[in-house]
Amino acid sequence: MADLHIVILAAGKGTRMKSALPKVLHRVGGVPMIEHVIATANTLHPRSITIVIGHQGDALKAALSGYSGAGFVAQEPQLGTAHALLTTEPVLHAASGTVVLLSGDVPLLTSNTLKTLVNCHESASAAATVVTAVVDDPTGYGRVVRSGEQIARIVEHRDATDAEREIREINSGIYAFAVDGLFDALRNIAADNAQREYYLPDVIALYRKQGRGVETIVVADVDEIRGINSRVELAAVSRIVRQHKNAELMAAGVTIEDPATTYVDPGVTIGADTILHPGVSIEGHTTIGGGCEIHSGVRIIDSRLGERVTVNNHCVITESSLESDTKVGPFAHLRGGATVGEGARVGNFVELKKTTLGPGSKAMHLTYLGDATIGAKVNIGAGTITCNYDGTAKNQTTIEDGAFIGSDTQLIAPVTIGKGAYVGSGTTVREDVPAGALAVSAGKQRNFEDWVSKKKKRS
Ligand code: UD1
Ligand code: CA
Repeated sequence: MADLHIVILAAGKGTRMKSALPKVLHRVGGVPMIEHVIATANTLHPRSITIVIGHQGDALKAALSGYSGAGFVAQEPQLGTAHALLTTEPVLHAASGTVVLLSGDVPLLTSNTLKTLVNCHESASAAATVVTAVVDDPTGYGRVVRSGEQIARIVEHRDATDAEREIREINSGIYAFAVDGLFDALRNIAADNAQREYYLPDVIALYRKQGRGVETIVVADVDEIRGINSRVELAAVSRIVRQHKNAELMAAGVTIEDPATTYVDPGVTIGADTILHPGVSIEGHTTIGGGCEIHSGVRIIDSRLGERVTVNNHCVITESSLESDTKVGPFAHLRGGATVGEGARVGNFVELKKTTLGPGSKAMHLTYLGDATIGAKVNIGAGTITCNYDGTAKNQTTIEDGAFIGSDTQLIAPVTIGKGAYVGSGTTVREDVPAGALAVSAGKQRNFEDWVSKKKKRS
């Protein structure tokens, strides 16, 4: 693979998606579909990657700006796939060797298939090599017309005769080409077809006429070359990605009670003997240790869970960290860098934002803890609120080890509760509480004897 270049086509409008978002930015397995294609392309260590953009090119370029390795060329207007490849001539005219053409809307292609493609193409010294597949329903795809063993040409579905439409071997839209002579050939393609477009597959018939070598490789797993042109196909491909991930997790010792309703992004890792109940969604770069239990309705995004963590039903956990042997939920919301220390517990209707809850501490009911640093073995009573926002700035609350915060307490930040201190129920804490002290702020209780019966007589 000495001189290998990759071109990814992504200029098409994606009309059938009926979307304001460029088609190749629709997500499959949590990332834009074209990122799958770029990642696979990179496994070949090509000399260059060129992405052909056109329709909504600026949006696409902005979204992919993180890929410093890839270059862009603009195809304007979009006159078909042959025309799209021709627009890369200024970038590749001086190149030699092989160009592999990929489609931004075919995200499941594997690195192995690409390597096979390049090896076959180069060892046969072919001018072109086409990746094909034999499918049950070839509707919509270009059909591979053979004469004897040899590929003769490719005919698009719309231009095919009834007899040609019976052919079940289809063009995947993925090819290897020798750079030598490619751009001259592309200039010789005409647009005399149903769509008045310059079709790249027409280069096959052209090469055959010129007596240049054209090879095919047939993929065994047809899922690999599925293209996404509509929302239905988007859902179908996404389902395949999920099934692969779930199968991989189960093989590694994770129990998934209902794979059909379990959504785990490809970038997630999960340890053995963890149990995922139905309707769980684990996204982004989440890491979950072994022996955990994640109950139904939980969504975890870009977070880290240690070993033996229990997440009860209907929690949302974003960019947070749960150490080993913690329990959270049901109905807890952890976000923005929340950290739950080893063995700590977070109960129902508790929100933690940018807060550290130390080892063995508990916040079991109806509580908001924001911008707080809470030590070990602290008890946070029901209805405790850190008043972290004064209308202009976010302020910090510190609660030291072993402190006890009574129910219905407001902690007006910035404020510190010292080690082992007690805060009585219903206290509004406006000043620091020294270590070992008791803070109370409510006035003395008054009882009005016979108040109820007196009220009745009055009315
Ligand atoms: C194409 C092939 C078809 C093959 C199928 C496999 C052609 C004419 N047909 O059909 O034989 O079976 O893929 O999925 O090539 N694009 C551009 N510029 C353009 C037109 C398209 O960059 O002017 C890009 C699209 O964004 C897309 C790719 O090329 O990424 C394929 O185009 P699309 O319109 O989806 O072709 P298909 O009809 O799927
Ligand atoms: Ca397509």
